[in-house]
Amino acid sequence: MDTIDNRPPKSILIVDQERFSTLIAKMLSGKFATTTATNGIEAIKWLRNSRPDLLIIEESIPGDGIRFCELMGMSPSFANLPIILLSVSPSSDGILRARAAGVNTYLAKPFRPSELQNRIDAIFATTPSQAASQKPNETPDEDRAEIIKERLKQIEGLPPFPATHAQILELANSDISSSDEIAGQLQMDPSLLATIFKFVNSTAYGFQKKVDSLKLAVTLLGLEEIANLVMTAQVFKNLGDYNGGSGFDRAGFWKHSVGTAFITKTIAKKLQTEVESAFLAGMLHDLGKVILDRCFTDYYKAVIDLCQEEQLWIGDAEHQLLSLTHAEVGGQLATEWHFAEKYLYSILYHHDPEATGRYQRLTSLVHLADHLCRKFGYGSGGDDTVPELHPAVLDRFALGERGLAILAELAEKELENASSFLSALSSG
Ligand SMILES: [Fe+2]
Ligand SMILES: [Fe+2]
Repeated sequence: MDTIDNRPPKSILIVDQERFSTLIAKMLSGKFATTTATNGIEAIKWLRNSRPDLLIIEESIPGDGIRFCELMGMSPSFANLPIILLSVSPSSDGILRARAAGVNTYLAKPFRPSELQNRIDAIFATTPSQAASQKPNETPDEDRAEIIKERLKQIEGLPPFPATHAQILELANSDISSSDEIAGQLQMDPSLLATIFKFVNSTAYGFQKKVDSLKLAVTLLGLEEIANLVMTAQVFKNLGDYNGGSGFDRAGFWKHSVGTAFITKTIAKKLQTEVESAFLAGMLHDLGKVILDRCFTDYYKAVIDLCQEEQLWIGDAEHQLLSLTHAEVGGQLATEWHFAEKYLYSILYHHDPEATGRYQRLTSLVHLADHLCRKFGYGSGGDDTVPELHPAVLDRFALGERGLAILAELAEKELENASSFLSALSSG
């Protein structure tokens, strides 16, 4: 990267092929401080420590220019960064996506230096300096959540809210709902139905007899739990079925999710708290990782690589490169998909259980289970670290060394059940 350092008032990051970014930097020399990057990954690494006043980015860069803009738009630290998107052949779809991602203006190539200058002048006439404004991490929590939630809706390729779950919730909220009707709804998708029976008959629920009719399942578990099971089955189905290329270990991720789910359930039983919600809360806690991997594959690869290179915990690497974490993305997707509120909180705060004002016990259980699952090296959370156990969680459950050792022993045993559950899911 070259920086022309003649102290102009505003700084501009230009992301394009080397010869174009150099050419644009020359056009702007003497008026602005320019930095060039040849692809999106190089650019997010530069942004780790710097804040430009303006981003000029080519649509077809490696890493995808519009994806980059979507990522910037999601990131609370960069959501207000003005962007000029360059394109050789602008499509109407591209323009719509760019607009949704927060791009200020679209400039078709080739362009004259004066055209670019006019666009820049127009942007700077209406926006305050980024570099002089808030530093990263200074955005209030509520604003962060709102920004992520709003932008998440616009992200191309985000799996839609599971339709069957929506129908069941509708039935559950109506006066005429009956287990027959629920069964009727679910018969529409036999493979989904089969997955639900695998869940219901797994040791996670611990029913003595085999549950083989939906009517019985609804009677035993209740409508809400069935709706949640359907949602989980669909999350597995929708999110597990895509071609990731980031190096994120998806098989290891599912194993980690299932392992954490079983451990959350077993420690919840032992501590006699939140037993009904524990399994799903554990299962869904890292949902945001799959979304990031699926929608921002190249950028998530940079996160995974950074974890390896610097032995970082994935949450730190996400924060450093993407300015947002899997917990934030997962939590906001939970809102978007109308998950029960308790799951929103346990997803959003599973790495910082003291920060949540609500559902503290469930969130603490997931935190503890995630720690234990990683400690036993079951599956993969995306990096090789074992995040520290928050001391307040031990206080919350009055756990001393002995108590923790008992839970750890139970958790390790429970992983055998998790493994049989995983083989049941993958067979047939
Ligand atoms: Fe996590
Ligand atoms: Fe995790």
